[in-house]
Amino acid sequence: MTIQENMTDSAITSKPVTLPDAQTVTEVQHYTDRLFRFRCTRPQSLRFRSGEFVMIGLMGDPDPKTGKQKPLLRAYSIASPSWDEELEFYSIKVQDGPLTSKLQHLKVGDHVILRPKPVGTLVHDALLPGKRLWFFSTGTGFAPFASLLREPQTYEDYDEIVITHTCRDVAELTYGAELIESLKTDELLNELIGEGFWKKIRYYPTTTREESPKMGRITTLLKDGTVFRDLGIESGRMDPATDRAMICGSMGLNLDLKEILEGWDLHEGANSDPQQFVVEKAFVG
Ligand code: A2P
Repeated sequence: MTIQENMTDSAITSKPVTLPDAQTVTEVQHYTDRLFRFRCTRPQSLRFRSGEFVMIGLMGDPDPKTGKQKPLLRAYSIASPSWDEELEFYSIKVQDGPLTSKLQHLKVGDHVILRPKPVGTLVHDALLPGKRLWFFSTGTGFAPFASLLREPQTYEDYDEIVITHTCRDVAELTYGAELIESLKTDELLNELIGEGFWKKIRYYPTTTREESPKMGRITTLLKDGTVFRDLGIESGRMDPATDRAMICGSMGLNLDLKEILEGWDLHEGANSDPQQFVVEKAFVG
């Protein structure tokens, strides 16, 4: 799809520009000076599985020599579930980041570019059947789980869902905390999945730099057994027969967690080879 638009009063550009795959921003909410979310229209043709990501972005600055503009795209997890009419994204703001320094100025009515080719490993199909599903996230790595926590299959397939979110500060937990809280009063989901479905969720937020009820990196809290004690899991470890996990965070977190889970005999899976856990990098701009 190509849309010819005159986007005046926009942070993107004040000149008429041709945006391929343009979608319109419908909502923007800022949480901290580092984090925000936005919603946009969804192309009718876009089908995706909850947990997948797409490439989104804006037109880059004109080339000084030719004046031509190229799209500046980054991988973003879709934070909304597959059944949602719109798309939601949760993003970091990096002041000198090529894309997010611009993206953070998005306003309702602006256009973003969205390449409608969803991919990713954080999908139910990449896991073997199990009883307890763990979502491990840091920072904006919460995004795919914002999608999966609103996906009926998550609750159909598992008895219990543990969602851990580790951030530097309490304010950085807000997006996730509010989303989980909103599930309790979400009439559509309670009707669709079953009244009180959200009681299957065990929310485990931790901070590393600001005082909060639970402090420390999730990796440390898993290794020293704190998480299991807090959740009443007597074995003090994950069980390859019944525990399944999806991991989305920084490269460091992903590698450290992979090692911990492999130490408990869980194996990494993929779409073509379902196993006990899957990993994806939280993409930063
Ligand atoms: P820390 O403050 O100890 O670095 P960021 O904002 O840099 O993306 O980090 C998000 C959260 O992820 C922070 O709380 C950070 O803790 C934590 N973190 C970073 N690296 C790791 C890791 N290798 N294992 C576990 N947690 C990590």
